[in-house]
Amino acid sequence: EIYKTPDEGSLAVAKEIADLIREKAAKNEKCVLGLATGSTPIQLYAELVRMHKEENLSFKNVVSFNLDEYYPISRDSINSYWIFMHQHLFDHVDMDPANIHMPNGELAKADVRAACEQYENMIDQAGGIDLQLLGLGHNGHIGFNEPGSSLFSKTRLLILDNNTRIANCRDFVNLSKVPRLAITMGLGTIMKSKRIVLLAWGNKAPTVVMAVEGPVTDQVPASYLQMHNNCTFVIDELAASEL
Ligand code: GLP
Repeated sequence: EIYKTPDEGSLAVAKEIADLIREKAAKNEKCVLGLATGSTPIQLYAELVRMHKEENLSFKNVVSFNLDEYYPISRDSINSYWIFMHQHLFDHVDMDPANIHMPNGELAKADVRAACEQYENMIDQAGGIDLQLLGLGHNGHIGFNEPGSSLFSKTRLLILDNNTRIANCRDFVNLSKVPRLAITMGLGTIMKSKRIVLLAWGNKAPTVVMAVEGPVTDQVPASYLQMHNNCTFVIDELAASEL
């Protein structure tokens, strides 16, 4: 789906999410959302907050699982995805804090593997992800699944590509402060979602074309989404310019 501007694309996705939340609430069901960070979904979260304030959209039935988190990082660090999600969404809506799940960058290394397994189990116990939001890294990563990630990968600790650290350096004092590791849902975890919506704007055009029209390859993790039966790329005209 190609929209004129990121604002229009964000609005369309916010409406889809709001409809899903309301549809589930009407049936007394939980709505399980997979959430993403980065600059791309900020406008979408602002729109959901507006809908909560002005259109009575309640998040009481929402259960969320975030894609990823840096490791190690303290939750109250301004660069943690924990803070990002609270600043842009969780602090402004009526979600039950017990329904918020994010990989924990504060764990001791010895505890990470078990926590990753537990994260997978919690997603399954919640009934799976109804709608997974994704952004897109310049190298084609989704979550933090860097090129080379297996289609069957699960939630795990991995080493970030240097290019990813450089791209995300803008949020940190300097490159040496960007964590070298991250915990991310795997490609297998993401592919199990019932629906996937990937957002990409502007300068992601070269990556969008590789993901949508290129071969399905582990060198462009987002290309695996071609094999998902309910996945939409929501992009603006600039991001579509090389299709
Ligand atoms: C990070 C996140 C990804 C995100 C990507 C793109 O690496 N782990 O989930 O999609 O950045 O970021 P941005 O939206 O700022 O371009």
